[in-house]
Amino acid sequence: MNKKNIILILSLMCGMALATTASAQNNLVLREDNIEEILKAMTNEEKVSLLVGGPGSLVPGAAGYTREIERLGIPMTVLADGPAGLRIQPKREGTDQTFYCTGFPTSTLLASSWDPELVETVTTAMGNEVLEYGVDVLLAPGMNLHRNPLCGRNFEYYSEDPLLSGKMAAAYIRGVQKNGVGTSAKHFAANNQETNRLENDARVSNRALRELYLKNFEIAVKEGKPWTVMSSYNKLNGECTQQKHGLLTTVLRDEWGFDGIVMTDWGVKDGTVKSAKAGNDLMEPGRQVEIDRLLAAVNEGTINQEELDRNVRRMLQYIVKTPHFKGYKFSNKPDLKAHAVVARKAAEESIILLRNENNTLPLKGSEKVALYGLTSVDFFGIGTGSGEVNSKHIVNMQEAMTEAGFTLDENLAEFYRTCYATQSATEKMEGSAIDKRHRLEPIVSVKAIERQAKDNDVAVVVLGRIAGEGADRAVKDDFELTTIERELLQNISMSYHKAGKKVVVVLNIVGVIETASWRHLVDAIVLPWAPGQEGAHAVADILKGKVNPSGKLPMTFPINYMDMPSSQNFPYHWDMTKGRKGERPNVDYTDYTEDIWVGYRYFQTNNVEVSYPFGYGLSYTSFSYSKPNVKAEKDGFTATITVTNTGKMAGREVVELYVSAPSGGLKKPSRELKSFAKTKLLAPGESETLTMKVSAYELASFNEMHSAWETAAGNYQVLFGASVDDIRATASFHLNKSQSWEVHDVLGNPNE
Ligand code: BGC
Repeated sequence: MNKKNIILILSLMCGMALATTASAQNNLVLREDNIEEILKAMTNEEKVSLLVGGPGSLVPGAAGYTREIERLGIPMTVLADGPAGLRIQPKREGTDQTFYCTGFPTSTLLASSWDPELVETVTTAMGNEVLEYGVDVLLAPGMNLHRNPLCGRNFEYYSEDPLLSGKMAAAYIRGVQKNGVGTSAKHFAANNQETNRLENDARVSNRALRELYLKNFEIAVKEGKPWTVMSSYNKLNGECTQQKHGLLTTVLRDEWGFDGIVMTDWGVKDGTVKSAKAGNDLMEPGRQVEIDRLLAAVNEGTINQEELDRNVRRMLQYIVKTPHFKGYKFSNKPDLKAHAVVARKAAEESIILLRNENNTLPLKGSEKVALYGLTSVDFFGIGTGSGEVNSKHIVNMQEAMTEAGFTLDENLAEFYRTCYATQSATEKMEGSAIDKRHRLEPIVSVKAIERQAKDNDVAVVVLGRIAGEGADRAVKDDFELTTIERELLQNISMSYHKAGKKVVVVLNIVGVIETASWRHLVDAIVLPWAPGQEGAHAVADILKGKVNPSGKLPMTFPINYMDMPSSQNFPYHWDMTKGRKGERPNVDYTDYTEDIWVGYRYFQTNNVEVSYPFGYGLSYTSFSYSKPNVKAEKDGFTATITVTNTGKMAGREVVELYVSAPSGGLKKPSRELKSFAKTKLLAPGESETLTMKVSAYELASFNEMHSAWETAAGNYQVLFGASVDDIRATASFHLNKSQSWEVHDVLGNPNE
């Protein structure tokens, strides 16, 4: 072959190779196994666009989207709120079809079940709606701690205790994600108030962060493995959480092993570049200015290629898991009927009985009931804001009581229906969005109450509180009863008791209220919180004894608001109508001066009296606890205890395992929840042995001086309680050798 021919053949081969590459490039589309190849093929413009959310219309009412890159087969993905169910628009233009979602019980009620398995069942159904309505990630669970009862979003969160909160969130995540859709554990971190929520600087000690405000996320991330985490709006020790490398990378990924994406809460902040470098992969809802900033930073080298690729790689790893990427053909027709059953059952298993003097409850079911309170008609299934679900119907107490077989005082029922209709009509006429917070409890005259007390067998009074995103609650007329409510209770109490009849209160509230000053007026109190669209049915079934209540408080009910240590610095007198600043302290920052002394950790250790303690809840039956057995293991201990139903009705009992650490070293709460378990439904006389495991790491406290978790050697008391204040059995556990786990000191200091 001569030289000319060889050159010709070589150039032909070369041409063929080039053509093949070009066509491969043209056909290069994202697959689960070619993420690195896709990364190489992406331009920096494309990469940056994947880190910033964008507009979309795939699912009306969804909160956000990730951007599509058609050339590389990278689909748009859809993000929508939670946590009490999927939040999308129920109606769409051009079709009569509806897109309602199930309003499940709110997170605080789910936590009151103390039953992770139940939570997982609920969110398995919820996740199915996410999948079938074409959404890829549910923006939930909300899991900030109940640091203070006035936080307007507490109903979206679980508890004042990080273990209970973390276990509930982990179960929530597992349930939703079983459906092949994602979750977003939010809001990371120390996002415990709504006042000035976009800017407030939470100034928290490392110990309180590690033991409380991060602990629940640590459990949820390790045990639930959420696809995504949402960084919060607020600052933490002077730096935006979404820009805090120590939080988003060192702690979240390096220490806890999180391998999903971090997305911002919804809004543009200065410092997009810092966010991306800190490990915040996705900016939501996403604006052009963020793309511009990131691109400029890439071009200038402020973000290096490795950092850019790291975030993009994580986005691609997320995308290949989504139903949109997998081409799932969603039906837009989840089984709402079946899910309503799940929602109702969940409420039944979680509602708390706070008071039951002389076995007032259960009622017989055949009584004539005088049902009081505007909330008996305008029942709050969920709170307001992004956590509200568009369900087709929220069953109210009038409907539920009637369906349960009670006979309602029809005149009274009609009175409340008319009041509600009038107030709603006025709100509509004034053009304001219906503000449920400002509904007025109608006055019922003493004379009318006296007549009703004669005509009826029992009074059931529904008291309501609603709140939500964007505003914290107030002490006056919210945490505390209004004058009208107080008078109503007093008058009902007087007239009904005079007539030899009982008074029952149902608390349809989204957060803790004051109970100590009025509970003696009434015979029974049922606490369903905001129990979702079917929750009123569950209340009625509990009133008539079809269901035996087994919920327990996931937080403390203090006697007075100011008894809560965080009340010293929580911005409780914020008046939303008077502008944003200058009204009171703690607008720009909140000093968490109570440190780790939140909730029962404070009340129990300092012997401060409360209205209802953490973990409290009554039943229609009684339980006995056996002598427990605590066995030392290679790592920590295993505890077993047998619970027997000693009463006359089938029921379930939650056993709470608290530990008192040996003295010396760090000052610790007198007891801390370390595990819990709930029995199955036990028939009268039936027993069940519960097993709880606690590891040495779970016993540790955080020593700031050493930046380490430390478990001291010595004798640990293991307490088995029906509440934090009702210890039924004790045992001890000896740890021979102290143990410690060093971590990074990267969270900043409140005094800096
Ligand atoms: C809320 C988030 C929510 C997001 C999207 C934000 O304002 O804080 O909880 O997921 O909006 O709706």
